[in-house]
Amino acid sequence: MASITLGIESSCDETAASVIRDGREVLSSVVASQIDIHKEFGGVVPELASRKHVELIIPVIQQSIAKAGMKLEQIEGVCVTCGPGLMGCLLVGMSAAKAIAYSLDVPFIGVDHLEAHIAAAHIEHDVPFPFVGLITSGGHTSLYLVNDYTNYILLGKTRDDAAGEALDKAGKLLGLSYPGGVEIDKASKSGDRLAIEFPRPFMSTSSHDFSFSGVKTALVYFMRENSGISDSMLNDICASYQEAVVETLVEKTLYAAKTRGVKAAVISGGVACNTRLREMGEARFAEHGIRLHVPSPEYCTDNAAMIGVLGYHKLKVGDRSGTHLKAYSTTRPRYIRGRGLIEE
Ligand code: KG4
Ligand code: ZN
Repeated sequence: MASITLGIESSCDETAASVIRDGREVLSSVVASQIDIHKEFGGVVPELASRKHVELIIPVIQQSIAKAGMKLEQIEGVCVTCGPGLMGCLLVGMSAAKAIAYSLDVPFIGVDHLEAHIAAAHIEHDVPFPFVGLITSGGHTSLYLVNDYTNYILLGKTRDDAAGEALDKAGKLLGLSYPGGVEIDKASKSGDRLAIEFPRPFMSTSSHDFSFSGVKTALVYFMRENSGISDSMLNDICASYQEAVVETLVEKTLYAAKTRGVKAAVISGGVACNTRLREMGEARFAEHGIRLHVPSPEYCTDNAAMIGVLGYHKLKVGDRSGTHLKAYSTTRPRYIRGRGLIEE
């Protein structure tokens, strides 16, 4: 059994590697962020991101092993993000992972990035199964029913923009620096969240899907109709906009937890760093007697510890990937008897 796993993550603009003991203890977690490279473009430039991963992947892996006080030969299993993400970026981490697993002759497993974001909760919390898990980031907003360490059932996802994308695009529109989600969080602290009523799509339906393009359009119209925005007005806009996004995330996750009758929930992903989301989430779930677990910010944003954790549990139940493992950019391919792997 692989007790020491190496996690590798390169799906977007973070090159990360981590050494995990027994699926929980983080011996090291190294994250090299490319945020400064992409800042001037106001978003991630895929070609630049993959080139940077090629440069950083081996030094980051070496650093993670050294920080864990280990030697490469002590790695007993290699886990890597195989999707969803930017194809050119995923391939860098996967090639490195395959090469290491092949040379050490140890088990190798591909891990879904979204499931891993939720699995990050196991690092610091004992989360009783089954639970409802929301991953909310710059590229994704998806809600799962998690039955055990490796059994994730997708309940719903965004039909258009991800929550982080809606925050980042709003930040751009408001002239804030990148990533907008972080800046909106800061500005909101001195703003009135009840100043402007932004829409909360799909709040009153039983669907577990999300939609954030409407709230973004409402902001575009608001900015067209209102000129000469003062600093305090800008803070009010940020706080009200953030409130609409956060309330939608919290209430829809709570609704899913109540209808599924679970005792616990997890909210993870970059947007889960948001101060208001953490505050509102804790209060609303407590009112309903459901325990909400939100990982520390370092495990909410992209990291490789979450990959090593989920990978450990998959290896533990006998899951293995061959060196022919393929990357996927959007939805995980499904195996259908007689048809093989179907990419949807
Ligand atoms: O999980 P992550 O690091 O990368 C993706 O997989 O996308 O998430 C990045 C997203 C960005 O949209 C960023 O604006 C958002 O997380 N984010 C925040 C905060 N910190 C990061 N959004 C709101 N408030 C924050 N404090
Ligand atoms: Zn992510």
